[in-house]
Amino acid sequence: MFFFITLYFTSLIFPFACAHVAAWHKGMYCRNGTTPGFDDQNTNTIANPLFNLKRDDWWFHAVDHCDEFPPADGDFLELPANGDFTVELAVNRAFTTLSYDGVNTGVFLDGQNYTDGLGGVDCISALNIHTQNQSMAAGSAFAISYQSELSAVTPENLVVFTTLYHTPWERLATYAVPNLPACPPGGCICAWGWVPNGCGEPNIYMQGFRCNVTGQPGETALAPAVPPTWCEDSPADCTTGARQMIYWNQAEGNNIDVEGNDSRGFPKSPAYNSVLGFEEGAQHDIFLTKSDSKGLPNNAQAARTPPHWSAGLLSFLVLAALRPVMF
Ligand SMILES: *[C@@H]1O[C@H](CO)[C@@H](O)[C@H](O)[C@H]1NC(C)=O
Ligand SMILES: *[C@@H]1O[C@H](CO)[C@@H](O)[C@H](O)[C@H]1NC(C)=O
Ligand SMILES: *[C@@H]1O[C@H](CO)[C@@H](O)[C@H](O)[C@H]1NC(C)=O
Ligand SMILES: *[C@@H]1O[C@H](CO)[C@@H](O)[C@H](O)[C@H]1NC(C)=O
Ligand SMILES: *[C@@H]1O[C@H](CO)[C@@H](O)[C@H](O)[C@H]1NC(C)=O
Repeated sequence: MFFFITLYFTSLIFPFACAHVAAWHKGMYCRNGTTPGFDDQNTNTIANPLFNLKRDDWWFHAVDHCDEFPPADGDFLELPANGDFTVELAVNRAFTTLSYDGVNTGVFLDGQNYTDGLGGVDCISALNIHTQNQSMAAGSAFAISYQSELSAVTPENLVVFTTLYHTPWERLATYAVPNLPACPPGGCICAWGWVPNGCGEPNIYMQGFRCNVTGQPGETALAPAVPPTWCEDSPADCTTGARQMIYWNQAEGNNIDVEGNDSRGFPKSPAYNSVLGFEEGAQHDIFLTKSDSKGLPNNAQAARTPPHWSAGLLSFLVLAALRPVMF
């Protein structure tokens, strides 16, 4: 309730509507908003969070038709193989270089510089970035699908290929690219994702881009993606290799469920960081290996195929069986 009141007053005080956070770049879907033929420089539609929605609504932000507004022809998010790329994280397009010649941009996501510092021990209320401070910021990620049409993208062919810990925090965000192979002639589809850690509604963010691998692409295709799992205090429970984006707290289509508290005593919140075993930066373990040609992506894949609970049960049984020997 307090949150909505804050939002209400914020919108009275500031001329720009603030939702939450999106990654802005000319290759994005929904850059001009969702009014056909109108270039809305003050749009925040794509920055709205996704919570408790049906699969057809949260997938690529279809709830407000953002998935129906692709970038202009020729506008791609370029991913230099083994290099990096930069996007602007902001609560509204108004605070990026895509609007008003960039005059409203600042160091942070709302056009401000916060020269006296931002954040502390309590949740930040000056802008909706769901964190207490930079070190608590949950992390964000990009995923890629080697499909040129958004309609052909599935959770299994959309692979997380880079993460950036402790974001969203500042506007400029630079992500590292692994040795990605070239895209098909029509380019690839990418997605930005963020799952905040507390400080408000436990929602998720997912938005689409047209993207293309440039530079000197690799040769090896990506493996099919499997869901990530919570493994903060038990690395053996991590899924490894090509992993799906985090689909959580929706009415349908979730690929992860958590309960209880994390190691800091906060309610567990899946994130693009080490709690799910995501390394920081380029993900180097997402490629097909030789044995994959037989059908199963790789040994790790075979080991991680059982549902989480049964894998947990299995390791418990193994441990229980070993116990008398070990102690
Ligand atoms: C968005 O608006 C700009 C400026 O009017 C235009 O150049 C661009 O083509 C538009 N993008 C789309 C996808 O319509
Ligand atoms: C933020 O800093 C930049 C660069 O010094 C400056 O141009 C801009 O006016 C500042 N913005 C605000 C809101 O103080
Ligand atoms: C960040 O926030 C967490 C959670 O409130 C707190 O434990 C930590 O001390 C804070 N760090 C800084 C540098 O303020
Ligand atoms: C993608 O990048 C490659 C390498 O620069 C280029 O040859 C290709 O035309 C690009 N694809 C699209 C759809 O722009
Ligand atoms: C999680 O932590 C809260 C306090 O922050 C506590 O009230 C709750 O009992 C804890 N839950 C579990 C499952 O440990």
